[in-house]
Amino acid sequence: MIETLGKHEISQAMQYVLTQTKKKPRVGLILGSGLGELADSVENADRIPYRSIPHFRGTSVQGHQGQLVVGRLEGQTVAVLQGRVHFYEGYSMPEVTFPVRVLGALGCKILIVTNAAGGLNRGYEAGDLMLIADHIYLPGMAGHHPLRGPNDVSLGPRFPDMAQPYDRELRQVALAVAAKLGIPLRLGVYVMVAGPSYETPAEVAFLRLIGADAVGMSTAPEVVVARHADLRVLGISCISNMIPSPGEPAGPMVPKPPHGGHGELGHEEVLATAAQATPRLLALIRGILQALGQS
Ligand code: HPA
Repeated sequence: MIETLGKHEISQAMQYVLTQTKKKPRVGLILGSGLGELADSVENADRIPYRSIPHFRGTSVQGHQGQLVVGRLEGQTVAVLQGRVHFYEGYSMPEVTFPVRVLGALGCKILIVTNAAGGLNRGYEAGDLMLIADHIYLPGMAGHHPLRGPNDVSLGPRFPDMAQPYDRELRQVALAVAAKLGIPLRLGVYVMVAGPSYETPAEVAFLRLIGADAVGMSTAPEVVVARHADLRVLGISCISNMIPSPGEPAGPMVPKPPHGGHGELGHEEVLATAAQATPRLLALIRGILQALGQS
């Protein structure tokens, strides 16, 4: 049974949020694994736990806090989703993307999404930041799509165009800010897998073959719903671990195993690398928010 999370539920969630904050956010942010610290920099913040917001689901993943933070950052009024819920936690795609609907209803025009992702591109290193140029939404292509089912045209079109999921102008802004601040920024394609298992060597080979530079377990459904709701999107991945090629000996590109293990990937390692990259990501996002001005 697909439960309805439509206009009525979006409105209920929005109305509740409006009882908790008087600020009118223009930019929404979603913070991925280990990147939640950005939300602590928000000034004059109203913090609203997900569990208090109607129809929001709580996050069960370590490194994801589970609150909506509305406040000011670099001259912008922002609404930050500190922590996200994932498909692999058992939630449906409409549940996973519901908070994006609410950001749109609150008046956000721009969505900045961040995530921790595994590096597939052999030129990348753990700790790199990657601007998302495009994505491959594998679960969506296989039927796990948030827009599957009846379409409410008041929320968006039946067949939303995805020719430019990540806004070209916002990408230019991000690249210019990164250059100015001296923050290296890759540009690549993000592929979403359902998880929660990490990829087998054959799956890694497949993901490289189809043109992906980084792999993660989120983001794509949120971006599709944001585009459906006509939000402009900017996406940044933090490369939290490099994925070795099948048969490749563990070289300098391969991060140290977390607990003196056997080179196996663990969530702790993903969180630790994301934490290392947080200051750069924070500086980049601050710069982008500044550069956006009031346009
Ligand atoms: N694979 C899938 N998702 C991820 C990874 C990975 O290596 N790292 C962080 N999220």
